[in-house]
Amino acid sequence: MMDNWTRLKSRLDATQDRPLLALFEEEGRAAHYAVQTEHMRFDYAKTNIDADTRADLIALTEDMGLAGKRDAMFGGAAINSTENRAVLHTALRNLDGGPIYVDGSDVMPDIHATLARMREFADRIRAGNITDVVNIGIGGSDLGPAMATAALKPYHDGPRCHFVSNVDAAHIADTLADLDAKTTLVIVASKTFTTIETMTNARTARAWMQDHGGDPKTQFAALSTAEDKTTAFGIDPAQVFGFEDWVGGRYSVWGPIGLSLMIAIGPKAFDSFLRGAQAMDRHFQAADPLENMPIMLALVGIWHNQICGYATRAVLPYDQRLALLPSYLQQLEMESNGKSTLLDGSDAARHSGPVVWGAAGTNGQHAFYQLIHQGTRVIPCEFMVAANGHEPDLAHHHQLLIANCLAQSEALMRGRSLTEARKLMEAKGFEGTELERQARHRVFPGNRPSTTLVYDRLDPFTLGQIIALYEHRVFVEGVILGINSFDQWGVELGKELATSLQPLVEGEAPSTGKDGSTAALLDYILNRRS
Ligand code: F6P
Repeated sequence: MMDNWTRLKSRLDATQDRPLLALFEEEGRAAHYAVQTEHMRFDYAKTNIDADTRADLIALTEDMGLAGKRDAMFGGAAINSTENRAVLHTALRNLDGGPIYVDGSDVMPDIHATLARMREFADRIRAGNITDVVNIGIGGSDLGPAMATAALKPYHDGPRCHFVSNVDAAHIADTLADLDAKTTLVIVASKTFTTIETMTNARTARAWMQDHGGDPKTQFAALSTAEDKTTAFGIDPAQVFGFEDWVGGRYSVWGPIGLSLMIAIGPKAFDSFLRGAQAMDRHFQAADPLENMPIMLALVGIWHNQICGYATRAVLPYDQRLALLPSYLQQLEMESNGKSTLLDGSDAARHSGPVVWGAAGTNGQHAFYQLIHQGTRVIPCEFMVAANGHEPDLAHHHQLLIANCLAQSEALMRGRSLTEARKLMEAKGFEGTELERQARHRVFPGNRPSTTLVYDRLDPFTLGQIIALYEHRVFVEGVILGINSFDQWGVELGKELATSLQPLVEGEAPSTGKDGSTAALLDYILNRRS
């Protein structure tokens, strides 16, 4: 009997030339190929997925035992099997849920206690003389709070927040240059408290504070699982907020790593952010696959990447405040599902997760959309837009934004035929061979798939829902691919080599043993250094 992967491939062969528009001859397609929750609608009607394909995609989730694996994750089982850890970022937003056990003990009392300390600390900072907060962290200890803080700008009523991640001195120097050391709080965010970029920036910030009249004893806080190391660094334990190793870095914005966001928007709005994520968790746990937003978003991803062979996907939020979302999703998706070894140690039989990229609309339209519309490669696009903006006096801007978003997905699907292009050029007065030549440049192949996520308004609750939606999408895709979405061994080799290269860059060790290219580059740098 044909397996579901093979069946899906043959469905693709049979349907890949049919026009997407023709699918709308099926009555009710728009409703049947969309999932709606309280505040959001996910539309995948503009893809080549039909009822048969969708049934086979859902069957893949059954083949891989998705429901059981989902329950195991929420239940605290050690599903991150290469690190022997549970995966419980969901516990951080389990605000009014029941107990969750890891190795026989309920983790919820500690989570509530830490959240209570964070609230008390955030309130104190917001009420005091701190004008600026600098979060020093990288990867998940930066992207989550940086993205969410930018996304929720209309809800800021606390100190300004800045984010320093890069070890490039330019990042910290440019950030600190505008700040007053006496009224700045530095938050060192690092799960391990060993990350070289973060620790280097933290030491630089501490020296800056000491030199400029601030007091690192009271103006430093730390967010980490390694409380011994935060103490060794000299941070007052009363200003250290701990979490457990079952919170992955890229899944950590819901707990202490979200402290800068909490200080910016206040504990109440932060609660609402958590509640939005919790609502998505409940939806993901309870809804049937067809009505389940994370599952359907994941299945569209599997269809496009593993079946159709489209190697990338573009995330295109028509929402300037979500400009950092593509970077955030790059880490979430590519660090989670960019793996070619399966859970059992065997080689993957199919491609790992796609390359994720994108930018806020409408800016991207004036940069890379040319290739999306007329390039030779198909790039599935994931559009996002809010029904309402936050600037009622500038409502016409928002209407234009929505019109552009909807226009792009329509244009990608519809395209423009040579006949239509000829008519267009005729109307402009072209004729003969020049008309033909010009018309060909104005043809759009169309039939390019996209999805659209529409949400009522980008408030804390909705942002929580959106992030949790993508987290669960990554989980479902990982389960279908048979990989562990929660480790990241692929980042280690580069880190090790950087450590071994440091003495060479400092000119304290010879480049013996390095390959010719690396040795020549080092040589050039050492000779040119002024
Ligand atoms: O190098 C990758 C990584 O481990 C990410 O997974 C993580 O978010 C980031 O580094 C930062 O790690 P930490 O919070 O321990 O400083």
